[in-house]
Amino acid sequence: MLDKITQLEEKRALALLGGGEDKVKQQHDKGKLTARERIDLLVDEGSFREIDSYVRHRVKDFGLDKQSFPGDGVITGFARINGKEIAIFSQDFTVFGGSLSETNANKICKIMDAAMKLGIPVVGINDSGGARIQEGVLSLGGYADIFLRNTLASGVIPQISVILGPCAGGAVYSPAITDFIFMVKNSSYMFVTGPSVVKTVTHEDVTFEELGGAETHTTKSGVAHVIGENEISTLLSVRKMMSFLPQNNRDTAEDNDFDASKLTLIPKLDSLIPDNSNKPYDMKEVISCIVDDSQFFEIQNNYAENIIVGFARVGGMSVGIVANQPAVLAGVLDINASTKAARFVRFCDAFNIPLLVLEDVPGFLPGTEQEWNGIIRHGAKLLYAFCEATVPKVTVITRKAYGGAYDVMSSKHIRGDFNFAFPGAEIAVMGPKGAVEIIFKKEIAAAADREAETTKKTDEYIEKFANPYIAAEHGFIDDVIKPSETKMRVVEALNILKTKVDKNPRKKHGNIPL
Ligand code: HXC
Repeated sequence: MLDKITQLEEKRALALLGGGEDKVKQQHDKGKLTARERIDLLVDEGSFREIDSYVRHRVKDFGLDKQSFPGDGVITGFARINGKEIAIFSQDFTVFGGSLSETNANKICKIMDAAMKLGIPVVGINDSGGARIQEGVLSLGGYADIFLRNTLASGVIPQISVILGPCAGGAVYSPAITDFIFMVKNSSYMFVTGPSVVKTVTHEDVTFEELGGAETHTTKSGVAHVIGENEISTLLSVRKMMSFLPQNNRDTAEDNDFDASKLTLIPKLDSLIPDNSNKPYDMKEVISCIVDDSQFFEIQNNYAENIIVGFARVGGMSVGIVANQPAVLAGVLDINASTKAARFVRFCDAFNIPLLVLEDVPGFLPGTEQEWNGIIRHGAKLLYAFCEATVPKVTVITRKAYGGAYDVMSSKHIRGDFNFAFPGAEIAVMGPKGAVEIIFKKEIAAAADREAETTKKTDEYIEKFANPYIAAEHGFIDDVIKPSETKMRVVEALNILKTKVDKNPRKKHGNIPL
């Protein structure tokens, strides 16, 4: 027996080496951690239990029979993050550049299948040269097996992708289907075709980083959600984000202990919103006043900054915040803001995370660029997402709620549960200037002093419409609240809504405008 145990220990030691010491050194020399080091940083200390560490590929072509490594380029298993079980895979670049083989894909599918049965999140750490070229269609099939599982798991268990190296070609579509993509500066990149193919086809000169680096995908394309300075901070931010999530779509995120004595008025909020409705202010300051310990985990903070989305705890409860940002483009809704927020709303709804909407929106962005690129279709995504969401929805109109954007931003009409407005809120079809120029066009044209007439009509319009009370008279606003009362009222509302049950009609699935 002792011999057998020694043999086991040797096999274990070999599996831990991955592609060998030289390859580990190369990985470190590139400033990258190994697949196992990354898992150790991400999960609770000592909680990782690996499976399938003895799996090897079965390919004999291209001399691969002489090159075989236990584990075959991906480490898989179970672990805990913040005390909660997760399934994890981490591609091992030291073995054939982390490329995806048939057996390696089978390992990933195996833990994804288990995660679905167990109702636990899957975290995938990507660092791979793509399909293992020597295996041809077998590796392509492996990708398809993963894509199918990503799709079936979508909305059932949270799926998080962490890109810490190359992720190229069709391989990008697995992370793309998952809920959140984390990338690290300078050493991760995602693209469908690399710089050399781009050069051949479009004659553009572009570097790896410019084409598909972390900055690109968190500022330009919106493909990725969170950027980290280095691998350690990136992995730690995955842990942080997961503290706001439930384990699956039947679960709810755990409440934190909350000291109710912290629920006092917040006087700062009474003076934070400028009287002049054309003056910008930073909605993040409002968020910081409302969330517990000023802790807000922002998603896509450098993309479509005219809308803010992210997770926080409010009164100890995990919530998804969607907020217009008057400090950027006056908080207008455009294509990117709509798709960014729509995807976030749908994630929260799928995973029972209540939505808190902070609204200050002048409407949708006008212009040919927006119209020709489909603001109608993309804006409809956000409308659709809020309409179909059945989680608790609390909306606070801090200032402007104009036009279609009033309807879209979780209004009462589309099943907002508690809709509050500040006393300075302006709820109308459009802003005073535009409205007066249309409805009083003839009167203004006929007036001796056109400017005076415009001012008079604008004042009348503001007096009549630029307030929250007409909406409140109709019950479209549940209450007009002092800004300083916001946190109290939101926490009360979220507590009342804890037993909320709402349903959508039975259907195979809706047809969101894509
Ligand atoms: C087999 C691969 C590999 C692959 C890398 N390696 N990619 N082996 N299949 N796809 C091996 C290399 O041969 C090398 O082995 C080791 O991994 C490290 O690779 P290097 O090139 O030395 O590393 P580096 O210089 O860091 O470059 C990394 C890289 C490059 C940019 C990823 O390796 C590369 O361009 N690889 C090919 C990428 C690619 O075209 N993949 C197919 C995409 S199409 P040795 O033994 O020399 O150390 C695709 C289709 C998926 O994935 C479709 C799904 C629908």
